[in-house]
Amino acid sequence: MGAEELGAEIELIRMLDLEIGHCKQCKSCLWFTEGPGKCVIKDDGSFLYEKIMDADGFILGVPIYCWTAPGQVFVIRDRILGPRVDVAFAVEAKKSGTGMMGMGPAEPDERLFKPRVAGFIVNGGAHTTAQLALPPLHTLTFSMQAAVVDQLLVYDLTAIPGAAVLVDDALKRANKLGRNVAAALGKQYDDVEYKGDDPGTCPMCHNNLMLVGNTNTIECSVCNIFGKVRVEGDALSITWPEEELKKGRLTIEGKRLHGTEIMEVMENLKPRFEEIPAKIAKYKEYDCIVKPLTKKK
Ligand SMILES: Cc1cc2nc3c(=O)[nH]c(=O)nc-3n(C[C@H](O)[C@H](O)[C@H](O)COP(=O)(O)O)c2cc1C
Repeated sequence: MGAEELGAEIELIRMLDLEIGHCKQCKSCLWFTEGPGKCVIKDDGSFLYEKIMDADGFILGVPIYCWTAPGQVFVIRDRILGPRVDVAFAVEAKKSGTGMMGMGPAEPDERLFKPRVAGFIVNGGAHTTAQLALPPLHTLTFSMQAAVVDQLLVYDLTAIPGAAVLVDDALKRANKLGRNVAAALGKQYDDVEYKGDDPGTCPMCHNNLMLVGNTNTIECSVCNIFGKVRVEGDALSITWPEEELKKGRLTIEGKRLHGTEIMEVMENLKPRFEEIPAKIAKYKEYDCIVKPLTKKK
């Protein structure tokens, strides 16, 4: 409602209204066998894809399930918001004229190139289990380079659906998130200012989920950027080198490097591709698969 109050045109899509099957890794959305960005699976995926491509921004609100986001979110990501909408792949496709990742015709969906913003709201029943709630949602915005303007975690809501309406502060904060997202609509990625309450440990995604090894280097699990840790007494400080910020997962350069990495791995393995049919045969013939009676073998 906050976004609408600022004049944004709003549509509400409820995940449970959608029938969206799992990605089967056929890669037709990358190779355009069904047309630019199209999926072979005929279900509500195409409806959602069109809605997201047409939108200048979105707010994703989800409950916490089992310490993280619910499964529907990840099914949607894999079907609609993964390589299919990778802006770096699309830029390369246009430049090279050889299609996404060098395959197929070069006609990416032009809507991929418009700026998009996003906001996240997560509701949880408890308060000790939230570390894996918000960070995974960022994997839905990586590929399409949507700038996350604001993120909100509301907890202590028990397991009763709808309990959030009892928490006035949470409702007010959610309204503000809507306004923050609406105010950023149309802005270029680098011009979007983060409006979340917690600046977080990572200067890019503003999350706190870090990988710590046995050196003074720390890695943001979301952005794949490396910082240097310093400890003085009880105080800990982290510096993030400028070159890391330029190639994190949230940048086009980071995504381009990821695409290059995939192509390098592909080139390395290419000479051995012809071995696959013979070597895979024994696994395909390994007949211990069981299925529900309603499914064909
Ligand atoms: C399958 C399932 C798993 C859940 N796991 C968690 C959990 O790990 N942590 C938590 O805080 N709440 C958990 N909950 C509670 C929901 O997050 C809570 O019911 C929800 O925030 C209610 O929000 P709503 O009013 O938006 O539906 C779980 C609920 C379900 C149905």
